[in-house]
Amino acid sequence: MRHLINILDLSKEEIDELIDVANDIIANPEKYNEACKHKIMATLFFEPSTRTRLSFESAMLSLGGEVLGFSEAASSSAAKGESVSDTARTVSCYSDIIAMRHPKEGAPYVASLVSEVPVINAGDGGHNHPTQTLTDLLTIKREKGHFENLTVGFCGDLKFGRTVHSLISALSRYSGIKIVLISPEELKVPSYVKNGVIKANNMPYVQTTDLESVIGDLDVLYMTRVQRERFFNEEDYLRLKDSYILTPKKLENAKPDLAILHPLPRVNEISVEVDKDPRACYFKQVRNGRYIRMALILKLLKEANA
Ligand code: CP
Repeated sequence: MRHLINILDLSKEEIDELIDVANDIIANPEKYNEACKHKIMATLFFEPSTRTRLSFESAMLSLGGEVLGFSEAASSSAAKGESVSDTARTVSCYSDIIAMRHPKEGAPYVASLVSEVPVINAGDGGHNHPTQTLTDLLTIKREKGHFENLTVGFCGDLKFGRTVHSLISALSRYSGIKIVLISPEELKVPSYVKNGVIKANNMPYVQTTDLESVIGDLDVLYMTRVQRERFFNEEDYLRLKDSYILTPKKLENAKPDLAILHPLPRVNEISVEVDKDPRACYFKQVRNGRYIRMALILKLLKEANA
């Protein structure tokens, strides 16, 4: 049974195929209207979500399938103490594919060990978020035309930002990528990303606390939210939450073809005035999330039924 737990579960070629299918869905949506007729997706969200859960549901409905699930642990038997493993095993009896978000790192992997149907990691704690990465890759491909030789800046909470960890892993497979890590000292990327991915793949990188000093070098700027829910104390969160606020003024020295991405939700880190800038791609990114998830559901269901 094929699952998607980590973005590296997909080969580079498979990611290219998913991007091609997503682009075909965007161009010819009617071709896919009934592709998943009589199939059921379960969305098991033990943690809040707007984009990921609803884009999965929208994706499955757009493919002619059905959806069931829950949007908080409190409305499932997890509230009575049921394990992730038993929940997944149960729900796999009612559905053809499962998307799971959980605050604990590794929970979707545990689910995949017992599930009779494909499990998709829809975000596990501060660890990984592979379908956000597919969304980010589709957006970069549509905006820049390619992945090679891009200078990609990651700004904000690089410690807890699971979307950052997954995207850096995915980009490590392309040539000529330069990584610029912009964060407060306390929110630097974890060593498993810095040593295990960036250094292990000989990716050129710089680390700084100053966004304005590097903004002119970037082809892609990936802004992130400081993640209140992962902090152990509120004081630290309040001190760090507004470390970076992207404004039109700060963009004056940026390249004219910079692509500004953000997985969203944003709190304060991109001023709403930036939304009018043609370089702001984060709402296009939201839209792309639905199409790449359609492509992923098609692929995993096809392989499960082969
Ligand atoms: N990007 C993302 O995961 O958003 P949600 O938390 O709203 O799903």
